[in-house]
Amino acid sequence: MKPKLFLTRELPEEGMKKLSGYFDMEYNSEDRVLSKQEIIAGISGKDALLCLLTDTIDREVIESNPNLKVISNYAVGYNNIDVKAATELGIPVCNTPGVLTETTADLAWALIMAAARRITEGDRFVRAGKFKGWGPLMLLGGDVFGKTLGIVGMGRIGLATARRAKGFGMRILYTNRSVSREAEEELRAKKVELSELLSEADIVSIHVPLTEETRHLIGEKELAAMKPSAILVNTARGPVVDESALVEALRSNRIRAAGLDVYENEPEVHPGLFELENVVLLPHLGSATIETRTKMALMAAENAIAVFERKTPAAIVNPEVLS
Ligand code: GLV
Ligand code: GLV
Repeated sequence: MKPKLFLTRELPEEGMKKLSGYFDMEYNSEDRVLSKQEIIAGISGKDALLCLLTDTIDREVIESNPNLKVISNYAVGYNNIDVKAATELGIPVCNTPGVLTETTADLAWALIMAAARRITEGDRFVRAGKFKGWGPLMLLGGDVFGKTLGIVGMGRIGLATARRAKGFGMRILYTNRSVSREAEEELRAKKVELSELLSEADIVSIHVPLTEETRHLIGEKELAAMKPSAILVNTARGPVVDESALVEALRSNRIRAAGLDVYENEPEVHPGLFELENVVLLPHLGSATIETRTKMALMAAENAIAVFERKTPAAIVNPEVLS
């Protein structure tokens, strides 16, 4: 008898094949996020759950099925899951680090360049028929080459983003709990306090996970500490930035521009952002390439399978449940 798995949304084909080869799988084939009650109904009688960052897997969901043997998240971030509750119940929680690192760093750079050089604004300008010829003062942005990049959170994605800055001749400052030897030795990056990073950096890029300590890490005070010419980029999690304070800082040109892939109340976007030209808005596309989403699907599937094979999954966030 195959173990039974519930999947909350269809994944790339290779992942679906891997899952259906091993599990007796049931999945949501509709192109929408399931409600909590639908997830509870879906996991009833199942052995495994494969979920997305858009699914809130809280204590109520987890406790609704005392036989659940694994929660495999199709994401590197796992702030959508009550890991404490899962750990108390002895349920392994898995995620997909590593496979999406470079893809997400690429997107952070797409936002850096778009915000600095007013790419989306320029695109809207041309489409609106406003381009009447080259102008010496038309849509001037800020340079990226030779500037200072501030990486908030030097984990895998922060490091991959910083590496790309080498080609732009940038000085790199970073904040992190511990010293990143790779960043310091390979990139000559310098670990500083957040206040120093904010006042020195021309581009601030956020790469911390969402935790109680990082919620609203960047608020009114932090935005006020940034240079008026600076750019803020967030490809991590929306609630790390106080979105209302950001709208105010952008509106009053307290900072020059921002590039956002994530939002405080996703998928809702602060209406103030829509009115601003100096912000680039993307719909959470950090890992959205064919190659990477396929790797994530395979990794999430393999993580879940490992638990039934009594092997240690490649990525488990609460390894203490296995001991
Ligand atoms: C994407 O946001 C992820 O955490 O994988
Ligand atoms: C995610 O993989 C990170 O550690 O940045």
